[in-house]
Amino acid sequence: MILDSLLVWPTGSIWASVVLGLGLVIVAYKTASTIASWHRLRHIPGPPGVGFSKWWMLRNTLGGHMHLATKTACKKYGSLVRIGPNQLVTNDPDVLRTLWAVRSPYKKGPFYEAVRFNPARDNLISMRNDTLHAELRAKMAPGYAGKDNESLEAAMDKEILIFCDLIERKYISTENDYRPVDLARKVQYLTLDVITALAFSKRFGYTEQDTDLYEYIKITEDSMPVMMFLSIFPSLALVLQSPLFRRLMPSEHDRVGFGKFISVARQVVGDRISSDKPHRRDMLGSFLAHGLTREEAEGETLLQIIAGSDTTATAIRTTMLYLMSSPAAYQRLANEVRTADAEGRISPGVVADAEARELPYLQAVIREGLRINPPVAGTMDVVVPEGGDVICGYSVPAGTEIGCSEFGVQSLSSVFGSDADVFRPERWLEAEAELAEDPESERLKRMTSTWNLIFKYGKWQCLGKEVALLELNKVFVELLRRYDFSIVNPNKPWHSINAGIFIQSDLFTKVTRIPTKA
Ligand code: HEM
Ligand SMILES: *[C@@H]1O[C@H](CO)[C@@H](O)[C@H](O)[C@H]1NC(C)=O
Ligand SMILES: *[C@@H]1O[C@H](CO)[C@@H](O)[C@H](O)[C@H]1NC(C)=O
Repeated sequence: MILDSLLVWPTGSIWASVVLGLGLVIVAYKTASTIASWHRLRHIPGPPGVGFSKWWMLRNTLGGHMHLATKTACKKYGSLVRIGPNQLVTNDPDVLRTLWAVRSPYKKGPFYEAVRFNPARDNLISMRNDTLHAELRAKMAPGYAGKDNESLEAAMDKEILIFCDLIERKYISTENDYRPVDLARKVQYLTLDVITALAFSKRFGYTEQDTDLYEYIKITEDSMPVMMFLSIFPSLALVLQSPLFRRLMPSEHDRVGFGKFISVARQVVGDRISSDKPHRRDMLGSFLAHGLTREEAEGETLLQIIAGSDTTATAIRTTMLYLMSSPAAYQRLANEVRTADAEGRISPGVVADAEARELPYLQAVIREGLRINPPVAGTMDVVVPEGGDVICGYSVPAGTEIGCSEFGVQSLSSVFGSDADVFRPERWLEAEAELAEDPESERLKRMTSTWNLIFKYGKWQCLGKEVALLELNKVFVELLRRYDFSIVNPNKPWHSINAGIFIQSDLFTKVTRIPTKA
């Protein structure tokens, strides 16, 4: 009986055995390739299991704390750590400068497939082809540097005053009138108005409306985690961006969110090109004057809004939070600003950039605020070129993806001191003093060059760095010259999660007028 059925089985269900056989081949192949990929980088240390799957990356990304996970991993395993089957991260500033240098043979990795905000078109950040990137970047650099518009600073001043006016109108608490404000949200209104004013002279007016116009903030916050998920599985991003699925992605026909902004960008560029002064001297005018095509200008206008508003908002929020929770630093900055004001060292309307640069503690606070929570903390993977490389003493084969642990870099005690995890602006003044005393001292130079990596470096260095610093130079001075700030919930001051950039909300703050001098 049994023998019978055994004999019958193979002929009776030949298809079943074919399927079974195929299944076995696939399983064997999968196992072999998993083992092979584990084997390729097995000499590089990392958390358990990372060689076999992307589970570790997925778990930390979905949790919104990948930036801290890579920092901890670098502390535990060394300056080059394996975090996935083909993924490494480093916190070594010298290595990062080599990878990102202008003439480095490293290219952007598949990670970047996920940051194509408009599925139909690459932008300067998502562009992985180095030649095309360099061409596009060259056309945009003058506009970003503000070289083509002398009144960029005046436009910035106007926005800062409108922001102070918003606080003045609605959010001043007095003895019997308590009006807490979510500083996280309001600050993003400011940065969105600033960037749209500078970019194409058509500010969106978030600050006056005091509301999330077009639900832009909500939809960005909802879509960033999805983008980070896709950055782990780039082939999925390619599928979603294919014409078949594109209908699910943001489109210019949407009435809200990214899609709405795609259509706003398109309209702004269209209006400008058909106007009698297409090269008017704002950033968009500069791009067009330097040969950006209409399509390119649309993409870059959208990128500017995204790259320029959230990052600067994070810098302002973080710095305010750390100031409010560091009484000594808060007082010292407030004194510096208020004394400079009383002594007429800063302009009465809005402090000039040049005046702000003369306030040493302010400069230290701005650096420290960016260092303690770098606003861009995605791994920003690059790919090891043909022939492989030796990194941190490990030989790394071609095709391996290497990311950056920005929080790891900015908390190196070898660079910033044993209390690198603490917000302490004084460390910058101490390094300056040391240099004044001993011209041979390398400390400040090393701190500064490491800090600069917050804006990336070399061929991919942030183009908006000067604009961002201009805004930061003004905003803290104008806030502290007028008001005092205190956190409403010190035990849970805000919500902050990382999705490459940060999603931060509910920084509830009590704002009061500073006591007038008797
Ligand atoms: C504190 C604020 C800011 C920080 C920390 C920051 C940081 C960065 C970083 C890390 C990158 C590299 C992204 C990558 O290659 O993956 C970048 C690129 C870029 N940023 Fe910023 N950014 C800030 C503000 C701004 C502002 C205000 C603007 C616009 C006015 C801007 C425009 C850009 C552009 C256009 C790029 C692409 C450069 C290229 O690929 O050639 N950024 N930024
Ligand atoms: C990048 O673009 C240039 C110009 O279109 C092209 O010649 C080159 O093959 C591309 N490089 C890669 C690596 O795709
Ligand atoms: C410079 O840019 C600002 C802000 O976009 C704009 O209002 C101003 O008109 C521009 N300046 C000149 C000279 O075109």
